[in-house]
Amino acid sequence: MGKLDGKVALITGSTSGMGRDTAYLFAKEGAKVIVTGRNEARAKAVVDKIKADGGEAAYIIADTSDLAAVDVIFDGAMKAYGKVDILMNNAGQLSVTPILDLSLAEWTSVMNVNVTSALLLTQKIAPIMKKNGGGHIINIASVAGCAAHWGPVAYCTSKHAMMGLTKAMALELGPDIHVNGICPGAIRTAMLDSAGGEDAMGFMKQRSPLGRIGEGSEIATTALFLATDESSFIDGQLIRVDGGVDI
Ligand SMILES: NC(=O)c1ccc[n+]([C@@H]2O[C@H](COP(=O)([O-])OP(=O)(O)OC[C@H]3O[C@@H](n4cnc5c(N)ncnc54)[C@H](OP(=O)(O)O)[C@@H]3O)[C@@H](O)[C@H]2O)c1
Repeated sequence: MGKLDGKVALITGSTSGMGRDTAYLFAKEGAKVIVTGRNEARAKAVVDKIKADGGEAAYIIADTSDLAAVDVIFDGAMKAYGKVDILMNNAGQLSVTPILDLSLAEWTSVMNVNVTSALLLTQKIAPIMKKNGGGHIINIASVAGCAAHWGPVAYCTSKHAMMGLTKAMALELGPDIHVNGICPGAIRTAMLDSAGGEDAMGFMKQRSPLGRIGEGSEIATTALFLATDESSFIDGQLIRVDGGVDI
């Protein structure tokens, strides 16, 4: 018997990286998984693998830099499985542009993908969760939400906002909806590659007592904990999964 039997999990940004690893783990634990992202070939590959492994999944293609995409995701999720029990707001856009060079367009895109779409999706899905007796929301922030030295202005601000959003959501959506977040450190994904890869991130290894980069599967297992009653008295918390950097 799986830990998520009978549950429907919507994971934004699950065409790659830690979202994809979480999709695989949740499906293995019995959840029907809704995969989202912009890249259809990758989305289809994730769904095909889940099905080949005996699970159930569907995908929705949507670019949340345009907030109209939130309706596409919500409508697609309802059409696919009629409910959502677990929402993981994970899709993220990296930005490395320094403050004096940052355009309003880039700022808006980062905020839409990393924060505002999570708010709007939650506004649509929380009433469905409440109607069905409850649910779990897991927001993916970052160590860049804990301190400014991890990343330039738009990304850093969006992740700080994601942390505040997580606490505010928990306060307003309880007691039937549990809201928590994860602050990943350096995790081996396409986003890390786009930031220069493991070599460029060598300083992060040095700051970690564990002396290594993390894996998406290590975010997935934390998300699973937060998606089940194993975390029943944890609410409004941001769990750092970062190898102990900054301690
Ligand atoms: N990797 C790290 O070291 C690290 C550290 C701290 C926090 N994080 C956070 O972890 C989350 C997952 O990132 P990751 O590291 O797993 O990176 P990733 O492999 O690049 O995955 C990012 C996901 O977000 C989706 N996405 C990006 N822009 C989108 C858009 N405009 N509309 C819809 N979907 C979009 C991507 O889908 P498509 O490509 O199909 O659009 C992809 O599925 C992000 O929120 C990121 O900020 C990562």
